Amino acid sequence: MPVPPRASITAVHGYLPPDLLTNAELAHLVDTSDAWITERTGIKERHILKGEGLGTSHMAAEAVRGLLKKTGTDPSEVDLLICATTTPDLQFPSTANLICDMVGIRNIGSFDVQAACSGFLYSLTIASQFIATGAARKVVVVGADTMSTIIDYTDRATCVLFGDGAGAVLLEPDPNGYGIMDALIRSDGSGMIHLHQKAGGSRMPASAETVAKRLHYVHQEGAAVYKFAIAKMAEVAREIMTRNNLRGDMIDWLVPHQANKRIIESTAERMGMPMDKVMVTIHKYGNTTNATIPLCLWDYESRLKAGDKMVLAAFGGGFTWAGVYVQWAYDGAKAPKLNGKNGNRKGV
Ligand code: ACO
Repeated sequence: MPVPPRASITAVHGYLPPDLLTNAELAHLVDTSDAWITERTGIKERHILKGEGLGTSHMAAEAVRGLLKKTGTDPSEVDLLICATTTPDLQFPSTANLICDMVGIRNIGSFDVQAACSGFLYSLTIASQFIATGAARKVVVVGADTMSTIIDYTDRATCVLFGDGAGAVLLEPDPNGYGIMDALIRSDGSGMIHLHQKAGGSRMPASAETVAKRLHYVHQEGAAVYKFAIAKMAEVAREIMTRNNLRGDMIDWLVPHQANKRIIESTAERMGMPMDKVMVTIHKYGNTTNATIPLCLWDYESRLKAGDKMVLAAFGGGFTWAGVYVQWAYDGAKAPKLNGKNGNRKGV
């Protein structure tokens, strides 16, 4: 029996919209302070997408264009594109569809994955299966969200947390035995009550009343979500470690979803990992939902080496949670750099 090919991440690129929203600016909108936000979340600023008619596809297409350019990939070579998003441009068609059209990828399968903040890891898991079966050789997975469009900027408990952005990776069969070694995806729909968007779907279609009652914004019971996130991020990371005989000192990087600095620190502690091996971007990007993990990989790319062992872990609304064990496939320092417009990456 031939061994199925393993999928590797062979390139990463990101995009952050140029407009910034700082803690000081938020303190003019709601009753909060830079000190409270920094201490309770670790966030200092976040990027916000502005511009008439621009949606999630705009940022995602920028990330995908950069990815294709950086790798010298012609759009015709891409076999499948998956977009993880909670803030699609439209109810239908899928944002993945729109991205393909914007970047010139034609005549392939493309679809969105909705798993809130775990969507990027769900999508990586799906993409790796397409490669393992031989159904696809080049798959683009993009995580992108315009959270600012569903955030109530009069609600101090949620508006400080989120930002906008996009990150994309290219997956290909790996010739060296590296790549996605293991993946776990989990969900519990009973968690819906703690984190959801009440109106705009088939249960409660948009109406003048739903708009007046501000039901199209993120509803989050922060303390309940926090408790579940702390437990599940660590649980899934530890399960991945156990299944793959990994101890904390054997892992080069923890790549956690960026929801709150305290959740990240607690996950690292429970895995037995020091913070200098943990990717952290929350201070400058906030929670970009599906973009946090690919943006971390993009920010830290130059420090990554072929063979690095990393655990990716996420938790999101639904509830959903996921863990992926990756052996990184290439030396990031040797990865091609894009000249000129580079999506506003600020470096680690
Ligand atoms: N500024 C000042 N005070 C605030 C703010 C703010 N921005 N937000 C809340 N407070 C107040 C509250 O009103 C409360 O005041 P009270 O005691 O007078 O009622 C007090 O601070 C404490 O509130 P808590 O909710 O207990 O604060 P906590 O320390 O838990 O931090 C936070 C709140 C940051 C939201 C935290 O609960 C959290 O990070 N939750 C998890 C969020 C998350 O992980 N989401 C995950 C997925 S997102 C997705 O899937 C889309």
